[in-house]
Amino acid sequence: MSAIDEIKQRLDIVQVVSDYVPLQKSGRNYRALCPFHPEKNPSFFVFPDRQSWHCFGACNTGGDIFSFVMRKEGIDFSEALKLLASKAGVSLTAFSGNGKKENKSKEERIFQINEATAAYYHELLLSTSAGESVRHYLNQRGLSLETIKNFQLGISPEGWETLKKHLLNQGYEESDLLAAGLLVEQDDKSTRDRFRNRLMFPIRNIDGKLVGFGARALDGSTPKYLNSPQTMVFDKSSILYGIDRAKQAIRQSNQAIIVEGYMDVIIAHQYGWQNVVASMGTSITEKQLATFKNLTRNLVIALDPDTAGTEAVFRGGELIDKVIPFSTAVYGWVKYEDAYKAEVKAVLLPENKDPDEIIKEDPELWRNVIENARPIIDFIFDTFTARANMEDATQKSLLVEKFTPLLLEIRDPVRQAHYVDRLAKYLKIDHRTLEDVLRKAKAQQKRLSKWQMQEATLKHQGQIVPNSGLIEQYCLALLLQYPGLRTEVRELSPDCFEQSENKELFLKWQECTSIDQLKGKLDTVLQEYLEKILSKEFPSVIRESETMRHHALQDCIIRLHEKRLRNLEIKRRELLAMEAEIGGVDAELARLEEQGIEVSTKLKEVFSRQNDLRQQLSRRWDR
Ligand code: UTP
Ligand code: MN
Repeated sequence: MSAIDEIKQRLDIVQVVSDYVPLQKSGRNYRALCPFHPEKNPSFFVFPDRQSWHCFGACNTGGDIFSFVMRKEGIDFSEALKLLASKAGVSLTAFSGNGKKENKSKEERIFQINEATAAYYHELLLSTSAGESVRHYLNQRGLSLETIKNFQLGISPEGWETLKKHLLNQGYEESDLLAAGLLVEQDDKSTRDRFRNRLMFPIRNIDGKLVGFGARALDGSTPKYLNSPQTMVFDKSSILYGIDRAKQAIRQSNQAIIVEGYMDVIIAHQYGWQNVVASMGTSITEKQLATFKNLTRNLVIALDPDTAGTEAVFRGGELIDKVIPFSTAVYGWVKYEDAYKAEVKAVLLPENKDPDEIIKEDPELWRNVIENARPIIDFIFDTFTARANMEDATQKSLLVEKFTPLLLEIRDPVRQAHYVDRLAKYLKIDHRTLEDVLRKAKAQQKRLSKWQMQEATLKHQGQIVPNSGLIEQYCLALLLQYPGLRTEVRELSPDCFEQSENKELFLKWQECTSIDQLKGKLDTVLQEYLEKILSKEFPSVIRESETMRHHALQDCIIRLHEKRLRNLEIKRRELLAMEAEIGGVDAELARLEEQGIEVSTKLKEVFSRQNDLRQQLSRRWDR
């Protein structure tokens, strides 16, 4: 963790602010006469949930703990950093220089805590009466004791603080338990166990390090599975469940089979299919595919009929658009095949059967299913053409339209010709007709693949930037790593950055013309933060295409505006609620309403710009 994060974690904004201004509790929040401008009615608020402050009066501005101190003390960011570091008891020198080491040891602590936790859960399953019914359940599902031990399955206890107390007793620190994702912080800052009364699956990375947990409900409660949150060591989108135990077999059999569920992996391994891993229920990501790079080039993906989108058949002569999400995933695989000279095959599982059931009930059928896996493109052709009516010209034409981008994705000319032939046969059309269509489409290929990349990035961003802090970092990383984007930030105001460290970095960057110059302007803590931003890795679409970077940045900027306005709106709502509760002055309310109108007008603007951007992207597609 960086010094900045450490400070933010250790200090509570309520504490810090009340050193300067007497705060008055108001619902979940606090209010005061604004310390920055003279006023009679308090319009300054502190929001502990968001660790932020805002003055709705004359200042009409707000920020985090750093910006508060900067403003109040009239100091700059690095002075505020020093001041708050000493308040928090964080040593800045400890961070400078060996920040990496610090991170490493923190990761190690999380691994250790996870190990202690898994051992505890496992013990509860194996030797307590609470574990008995679960052992029975697992038994019923066909898991042997050996398997339960191999995968170190466990149960999380019933109480709210059972694990916490157990680990604190063993000398672990609460902050580390939080960082490991094993505790949840509540509104009042107290913590409780995240997992209760669930069947626990320890999740290890390819090196066998225990990165997180999957937790299955045992009483039908929802969600059925709860997973560890994103932590320093757990990133769901890059993990494959079972990879630690499967890698050997994958190498030896020169094949990896990808299924969806934890249970499927476990049963597969027990029945001798040790080359099986799970994507953990999400569609397979590029990062997950990259895992196989040094293990095998042969992948078999076991598709749930539902995931496969085969529901997307024809209705009234039209291909229902549910195919679209499926085909975007397929582009990924075809690209992967191309990039790694790999072969991706797919199998469609029998309806309503999980791999775990098939393997148990009919091992021969499973073997058959896997052996008859079809190369991904054949698989798609099979799936869709089987259900199409080849006497119907419209359906044929629709299929050609859907498959064209896929065929263009195949770079190897021989393979491409092969599939063109094949599709022509399927559709019972002259292959020259199809070639003609392809040629025309090829003329658009550049624009076309750009569009796909753009789509992919937009999606990608949607996935990885759940909070404004991350969008801010993403935006900074783009700007700092790609100097060519500098001219495109006119619309980006420093106020778009709500986290002081990001705002500071942005401001300093604006003053500089090169990264080296920027480094020279920063003190060690921010330098380290800068390194972190500079080391952020972008997907290949961003690395390779300037247009994509341009769009990613524009998208980011719009999101930042949107976030800022949304946050403002949320704060304003909370404020209105408080005012209503304590019977605030009418004039005050009216003024706040007025501000509200402003916010929503601006939000509308943002939405319309977002629309414009999307439309711009789809026009490229049409051209
Ligand atoms: P399944 O519902 O098929 O679960 O989800 P399963 O593993 O086969 O479990 P059983 O057989 O019902 O006991 C497949 C995978 O999707 C993820 C999990 O990784 C699960 O193993 N998933 C599912 C979640 O992450 N959250 C959910 O709520 C459901
Ligand atoms: Mn299942």
